[in-house]
Amino acid sequence: MKTITIDDEFDAWRSAALSALSQGLAPEAIEWRTSQTHAAEPSLFEPSEAERHEAQSHAPTVRVSKELATLIKEAAHFSDAHRWSFLYRVLWRWAQGDRAVASAADEDGARLHRMAKAVRRAQHDMIAYVRFRKRDASLGSPEYVAWYEPDHDVLAWGAEHFAKRMGKSTWLITTPTGAAMFNGETLRLERRHAFAADHVSDTPDSAEALWLTYYKSTFNPARLNEDALELHMPVRFWKGLPEGALIPRLVSEARSGARRMAQARGVGALGGKSIPVEASEAQPERDTPTSLDACRRCDLWRTATQAVAGQGSERARIMLLGEQPGDQEDLKGEPFVGPAGRLLDDAMQRAGVARRDVYLTNAVKHFKWEPRGKRRLHKTPGQQEVDACAYWLDKELRTVDARVIVTLGATALNALVGKGASLQSHLGRAVPFGDRWIVATYHPSYALRQNDDTARERTVATIVAALEEARRLAGQ
Ligand code: URA
Repeated sequence: MKTITIDDEFDAWRSAALSALSQGLAPEAIEWRTSQTHAAEPSLFEPSEAERHEAQSHAPTVRVSKELATLIKEAAHFSDAHRWSFLYRVLWRWAQGDRAVASAADEDGARLHRMAKAVRRAQHDMIAYVRFRKRDASLGSPEYVAWYEPDHDVLAWGAEHFAKRMGKSTWLITTPTGAAMFNGETLRLERRHAFAADHVSDTPDSAEALWLTYYKSTFNPARLNEDALELHMPVRFWKGLPEGALIPRLVSEARSGARRMAQARGVGALGGKSIPVEASEAQPERDTPTSLDACRRCDLWRTATQAVAGQGSERARIMLLGEQPGDQEDLKGEPFVGPAGRLLDDAMQRAGVARRDVYLTNAVKHFKWEPRGKRRLHKTPGQQEVDACAYWLDKELRTVDARVIVTLGATALNALVGKGASLQSHLGRAVPFGDRWIVATYHPSYALRQNDDTARERTVATIVAALEEARRLAGQ
């Protein structure tokens, strides 16, 4: 057994893994350790600097698909001490020509997809739940601090996000395993530098007092749905949120009805709902909007007529996921009511799937377009818009009980399984997705764009076959 000790970082694993591959080391022959936990234990089996250099100079360049490379990179941030050995097994199998390892239908592949998905979710959570607190100006830099406990190692990713969003403000995010600091220009990450949570909660914070007043005044007991509240703002995040401490009390007061009175008093005293928030600060109303209509998570709302919500029963066993509303959907506020929707209706009829039995939605809920003369021309949504809208798709995935999700086109597939998934490699086979199935097929607009009748019919037939497969998997 060979022991390989690396820094607990993707790049360190990557070069060590390539070197191990070049030596033909099978996964079972390696014990992976990280210097974080074993720094003081030099291994007798460690290669010398010269050996390492020698091995690396012969390291093969393993050509992995873009999809697998993305999955491995994401999964590398999954909090699990065994992830490096698992990822090496994946890489090893691929290097042996075993392409199934990248598929969610394979046991290792499914684990890899799950890990990557959990990391993406942790990234999303970090953006939604980090709350910066403003420090007293007399304390100097950083102006803002936040304490956050991510489920996975997403600090670096989240820090880059905030560095882009918060302008020149200086800030510090601390987590149990590291800290990120931004001095207005440069981002610095420090690993394993845990700060006490108290450091943050003691921070004098006038903005926080305002935020709490605002939160109390807008908390609507009449519409309280405790399950939904926990879903949107999971309990484990409450302690990082200024409003977190208020939630249990507000919930119990709402149950007793007392909150109704208190809210009316609070709102009356406030005389309005506006709160001063620095333009560049993390904004709960933007990041965790309470309704789709009020969504400002990306800029598409500015040019769209309205957001188009999903349509259908939460008990539907099949979900059809499109890309984004088109021109007619944008005007009508309903998904798939334009030309692509008509083609989809025909395909559904041929497949024996009734529209009333499915839940229809889109990866992006606002129409993205560019002017062409008097027409509004469809524009493919960017990754940023897809990511921003994942907030809504995640909610739908939690509430709609669909067993099968039919993704229409590459954007829809990528929105579910991650950027880089190739539509061609998913066509014609059902892929497990947690306890569900994904059946990927073409977007109906792709069929509409085919000039040649034969090619169009072939595309439609592929869509019909996917719908039939979905019906079979859904037991309908
Ligand atoms: N295209 C889509 O992807 N969705 C719609 O709702 C309409 C057209």
